[in-house]
Amino acid sequence: MRKPLKKAVLPVAGLGTRFLPATKVLAKEMLPVVDKPLIQYAIEEARAAGIEQFCLVTGRGKTALVEHFDLAYELEHTLKERAKTDALDLLRSTAMAPGSLMSVRQQVPLGLGHAIWCARAFVGDDPFAILLPDDLVLADVSWVKQLAEVYAETGGNVVAVEEVPREHTNRYGILKTGKDDGRVAEVLGLVEKPKPEEAPSTLSIIGRYVLMPEVIAEIARFEKGAGGEIQLTDAMARLIGRQPFHGLRCQGRRFDCGDKAGFLEAQIAFALKRPDLAGKVRAFLARYV
Ligand code: G1P
Repeated sequence: MRKPLKKAVLPVAGLGTRFLPATKVLAKEMLPVVDKPLIQYAIEEARAAGIEQFCLVTGRGKTALVEHFDLAYELEHTLKERAKTDALDLLRSTAMAPGSLMSVRQQVPLGLGHAIWCARAFVGDDPFAILLPDDLVLADVSWVKQLAEVYAETGGNVVAVEEVPREHTNRYGILKTGKDDGRVAEVLGLVEKPKPEEAPSTLSIIGRYVLMPEVIAEIARFEKGAGGEIQLTDAMARLIGRQPFHGLRCQGRRFDCGDKAGFLEAQIAFALKRPDLAGKVRAFLARYV
């Protein structure tokens, strides 16, 4: 029996400089796609996979992220009085079970690996998911759930992967693959942000992971990797051979909301999925293209 997957860590300490000035005061994970902040999409995706405990790794100026999932008593009261049931339902979609959300601070931005290490007390001895809210997923089945299903079969570590153009390998963690059935690939090696000519493949890690707690001890060696940062990819690479490690090509679409064009595309794709908006959006798009 595998230990069940109940925990998720969401690193949200990034400065969001690519979205300045919008992110001067506002956390980038609070930017909405249509009408829901990125962070809430990630929490809902994790919940759909049976995750019950959440840890946000935040930084200075990021308190709104924790606030967002608190009870907004006055607002709820006013909406009730005015019988605004639709708005109330939307408000309640941010409710969390008492004690299910915690946050820790990463005081200094030393890298993604370091951010995950900051959540070590939360992780303890349990397997855990990681969701990078910048990677937004549009799929019938939660990507964390898809990863969890592979984890239940194979055990060990499972990461979401996608083919990227070779000229983009220097933006991602890249896999060296072994046995590969076109859906699940055995991972033989991992390299963070290799140059296109040095990349062992074009299969890249997307921001969804199911990892074993042993990765924490590997991060704690605090070795600097790509960009002088403490990289999660390097710590994961040291688990290969000791634990099963697989990459899963998940079903669905992913939008890179850390990038302006990706973020705009996500707006359109998500709006077109909405019955209340699709018609209007289609009509106005026709005027531009
Ligand atoms: C991080 C990881 C990288 C991964 C990527 C997915 O990079 O370090 O391995 O491929 O997320 O979005 P970042 O986007 O933080 O530079």
